[in-house]
Amino acid sequence: MPSPIYVFDAYGTLFDVHAAIRRFASGPDAERMSEIWRGKQLEYSWTLTLAGRYEEFWTLTERALDYALERVPVVDKTLKPKLMNAYYSLDAFPDARTTLKALKARGARTGILSNGSPAMLKGAVDAAKLGGELDEVLSVDAVKMFKPRMEVYRLVTDAFKCRRAEVVFVSSNRWDIMGATTFGFRCAWVNRAKLPPEYGANCTTIPDLAALPDLVLN
Ligand code: LAC
Repeated sequence: MPSPIYVFDAYGTLFDVHAAIRRFASGPDAERMSEIWRGKQLEYSWTLTLAGRYEEFWTLTERALDYALERVPVVDKTLKPKLMNAYYSLDAFPDARTTLKALKARGARTGILSNGSPAMLKGAVDAAKLGGELDEVLSVDAVKMFKPRMEVYRLVTDAFKCRRAEVVFVSSNRWDIMGATTFGFRCAWVNRAKLPPEYGANCTTIPDLAALPDLVLN
C-alpha cells in the first residue's frame, strides 16, 4: 500500500500570519491592520488570477501591507520593513512541527502547497526548522497562477506521482479547501478560529493540527 500523503497550506495553516504584527504591536488597531493586510493579500491573489495575471506573492504581500497601513493610520508606518521581515520568517503554530513529525513517524509523505513565492516559503520553513519533516515544498510560482486554480493543486499529484484521492489536503483557509476538494483531494479544514461553516459540507473539520495523525478520512 502506498504511504499516505499529507499536503499542507502554508499561511494560516502551518505559519501564523498574525505573528508578524504581534512582534511589534498589540491591541485592536494592530489586529485590525493585520486582518486587512491578510484580507487584501488574498484578494489581490484572487483578482489577479481572475484577470489572467500573475505577480509574486511577496509583491502582493507588500502592496497589501501598504494598503492596510493607510487604512489604519494609527499603526506606525515606519514598522513596514520590520513587518515584511517578520513575514519572511513567520512563527509556525505550536502544533505544526509535532504533527509533521508524528505523520512522518507513521510513514506518511508530507508537503506544502502554497501561494507563497519559493523564497518566502524557504524563509518560513527554515525559521521554523520544518525542512526535515517535509518531502516537498511546492509554490504556485511554478504555474504562475494562484489558488484555487486547478493547475495549482495538480502540482501535488505531479510532484508525488500519485492519484488525487491519495492526498489529504490540510488548510485553515476554507476557500482553499473548496478548491482542493473540487480537484479531488480528501480534505481537512483546520478551524482554529471557530469560524462558521461555508462552501458546503464536503470536508472534515478539525480544531487544530494535533487532531490530524489520528483522523480517519473517507
Ligand atoms: C497559502 C495561502 C493561501 O499559503 O495562505 O497558499
